Amino acid sequence: MSDKVLIFDTTLRDGEQCPGASMNLREKMEVARQLGRLNVDVIEAGFPVISDGDFEAVKTIAEEVRGPIICGLARCVAKDIDAAGAAVKAAGERGRIHVFLATSAIHREFKLKKAEAEIIRMAVEGVRRAKALVRDVEFSPEDASRTEPEFLAQVVQAAIEAGATTVNIPDTVGYAVPEQYASLITFLRGNVRNIDDAVISVHCHDDLGLAVANSLAAIKAGARQVEGTFNGIGERAGNCALEEVVMAIKTRPDFFGGIHTDVVTREILKSSRLIARMSGLQVARSKAIVGENAFAHSSGIHQDGILKKRETYEIMDPEEVGWGGTELPLTKHSGRHAMAARLEHLGFRLTDPEIEAVFARFKDIGDKKKFVYDDDLSALVDDSIGNAGETYALDYIHVTSGSTTVPTATVRLKRGEESLQDSSPGNGAVDAAMQAIDRITACHGTLASYQVEAVTQGRDSLGEVTVKIDFGDGQLITGKGASTDVVEASARAYVNAINRSVALKQSAARRFESAGV
Ligand code: KIV
Ligand code: ZN
Repeated sequence: MSDKVLIFDTTLRDGEQCPGASMNLREKMEVARQLGRLNVDVIEAGFPVISDGDFEAVKTIAEEVRGPIICGLARCVAKDIDAAGAAVKAAGERGRIHVFLATSAIHREFKLKKAEAEIIRMAVEGVRRAKALVRDVEFSPEDASRTEPEFLAQVVQAAIEAGATTVNIPDTVGYAVPEQYASLITFLRGNVRNIDDAVISVHCHDDLGLAVANSLAAIKAGARQVEGTFNGIGERAGNCALEEVVMAIKTRPDFFGGIHTDVVTREILKSSRLIARMSGLQVARSKAIVGENAFAHSSGIHQDGILKKRETYEIMDPEEVGWGGTELPLTKHSGRHAMAARLEHLGFRLTDPEIEAVFARFKDIGDKKKFVYDDDLSALVDDSIGNAGETYALDYIHVTSGSTTVPTATVRLKRGEESLQDSSPGNGAVDAAMQAIDRITACHGTLASYQVEAVTQGRDSLGEVTVKIDFGDGQLITGKGASTDVVEASARAYVNAINRSVALKQSAARRFESAGV
């Protein structure tokens, strides 16, 4: 058995299924490129059949991201498999199709209304169809952890016979516990005749907070691919947090006995922050490995111990996962060239007009704060490029507020060459700004969530605002904006959400038109 554990990242597929986490193509590309720098083995880039946006994202990632295997998800349905095959085609030998079909009794009876024999037949047909398109096929019996082990073994054996090169054993609803999940892997290894012809993969959800523990137990039992997301984002309670799995394996060789991953761990923190920014899902301060407090020691006894010998209270070197080692910050005197070089170092690949747009914001921010740190710069990229080419751009905002005045905002937006201005009172400065924007755009969104984070330390830090807005269709749209002024950052975030909602409506209308409806 190989001593390498493959890391399969599904941030852009299962992670993106998290309400309000949906990313546009540019954001997905940033994440995919960073996953390439992290050196994950597989990027599950989307579910191509479900929307034009997903298809386009998987296809573009397959065309542009070098290194990892690029995978597209499909049900055991011909049109899904064909769409996934077309989307990953440009990755050539690195293209993978991941077909899935539920196998548990509850899914068979109530969701699929299919008998066991029919499930096996569909799985085999699905794998064979995928195999005709790509060499690398993964099969997942959905809800495997609640499937009768004997039946699961039959399905897995049939899928491998049909050509699956990876068999994934998902704990779809986060029901498993470590010992039992590990015994399921052991059972399959002992009862599936051809099991050595495929890699055993695990895919755990965190409903009971056991996703990482279950994945590690499965590795001990012989699984050699772990699926999950960075920061553990995903449906409901999320997926297995890959940074935790990678660092557990690296930190405890005594326990895991000679296995390794090829992840470049120094890229972990950068990846976590990028994914938080792109998905709009903030990381809890106390989150292992990547949370703000993960390596912060506040008690005097601990601080004293660390100063005497770091290992007294630190089991990992923070620098190994990318903490510390900050570069000299830029200032308003730094030129375009210095800023562009720093952006490249941070991993952004921007066109000349994009660099120009970021530089304009950089100069503006440089006038307001003494130092522009790497995190400030990343927030500015998101803020300036994220809005490029979109319907509305914030041109001007003026707000009056105070303990004895009615807060009032005047906002001017640009729509192409047109300048649109309006004013509104509100229940606080942020509400006034949003109401003025509502009046201009005629989009009336309900604020479902509002978060503000200081990007760096200090009173002059950029504030990054993330809003989740419901524009009346039940879908939550995320918007982000950054500024040293949190009211301006809020207005930028709200305009960003409106732009995304407009773009989604336009693409739905185009789909409708091309379908001749
Ligand atoms: O959780 C799950 O079962 C999945 C499958 C599609 C692998 O995400
Ligand atoms: Zn899943």
